[in-house]
Amino acid sequence: MHTASTDLDDVAWAARAYAQDVMKAIVADRYGSPDVLAFEDRPVPRAGRTDILVEVMATSVTTAEWRMRAGDFGGGMALLGRLLMGITKPRQRTTGREFAGRVVEVGADVTRFSVGDDVFGTTSGANAEVIAVPQGSVVTTMPRGLSYAEAVSLPFGAITALSFLEDRAKVRAGERVLVIGASGGVGVYLVQVARALGAEVTGVCSGANAELVRTLGATHTVDYRTVDIASLPGPFDVVVDTVGKSSFRAFEPMLSPKGRHVFIEGGIRELLQAVTTRFGSGPRVISGVALDDLAGLERVRARVEAGQLRPVIGRRFPMAEVIDAHRLVEARHKQGAVVLDFPGALSAVA
Ligand SMILES: NC(=O)c1ccc[n+]([C@@H]2O[C@H](COP(=O)([O-])OP(=O)(O)OC[C@H]3O[C@@H](n4cnc5c(N)ncnc54)[C@H](OP(=O)(O)O)[C@@H]3O)[C@@H](O)[C@H]2O)c1
Repeated sequence: MHTASTDLDDVAWAARAYAQDVMKAIVADRYGSPDVLAFEDRPVPRAGRTDILVEVMATSVTTAEWRMRAGDFGGGMALLGRLLMGITKPRQRTTGREFAGRVVEVGADVTRFSVGDDVFGTTSGANAEVIAVPQGSVVTTMPRGLSYAEAVSLPFGAITALSFLEDRAKVRAGERVLVIGASGGVGVYLVQVARALGAEVTGVCSGANAELVRTLGATHTVDYRTVDIASLPGPFDVVVDTVGKSSFRAFEPMLSPKGRHVFIEGGIRELLQAVTTRFGSGPRVISGVALDDLAGLERVRARVEAGQLRPVIGRRFPMAEVIDAHRLVEARHKQGAVVLDFPGALSAVA
């Protein structure tokens, strides 16, 4: 195996030395149902001078994966979504964003990582058995003691939860937080982050998931199938909606005077309300996008290692069953993360 001192010729030599020089990737060449997903054989990539080569051991199928594969951007965002992601077909044909795996090669100028490191992070086109990732991108060593599946279940939901609750809503100890969609991919981390910030959490999910949500830190749970959540007794300091089942107009009466209504699933209306309520004296709307960044990923790792966040995996599928995984995600009733286990096909020759 080669180390950070490897020069470019050595990198090429090492790549040739792998037992397998062809790998599988998952692609979508058009928008549509999960059946548009296909496997493709392609050469194993090489690491550039500042890249690490990661053998992907697990990836996750998130709601963002479903939206990008289906071309379904929700909330009146169809045009903007297509402009960003591809007008008639996905611009990025290799699917996937989160990955966890092992560093099998490092470029000549890599200083942050060594061969053999277990890493996790996010990058475009993560659904490939081997990926080349720039060392300065959203990648870091996995939290101590976690499996690949556990690590890969974190970035999507946990970075989002920290960004919206800690950075934007600035949740404080003693505040009352209502999480709509508390058992979902983002919700399981919203509940934990709100609790870690000292809030009293009420989680909205079906009765079947109430126990899970309580073990994550919710004091109360509400079954949306039997209770009208628009008439819950407030006041709440923060209402977070991950399902698009609330509106600021209907929920404003249950917000405290300095309350924040956070739309993680929101549309153009909520983006406009975020602007119009920003400088008022009453409750306000928080909306927008949480971009994944290295600082956010490092923060997630620190929280996990401090015992404040734990991974939640609803289902695991082998890579070959990616279509079934997408079907489950699209149904909008998964618990936490859905993980795809990759076979670890790239076995290096000593
Ligand atoms: N703005 C951003 O930066 C950002 C970042 C990440 C994600 N997102 C978006 O956030 C949304 C949530 O993602 P996710 O991965 O958390 O979704 P998810 O995993 O599909 O969430 C499902 C959750 O919603 C609950 N639910 C389903 N139907 C409901 C209803 N009618 N009323 C109330 N709750 C209901 C489910 O409960 P049961 O299963 O118990 O029924 C479950 O708790 C997605 O649209 C995603 O695109 C936005």
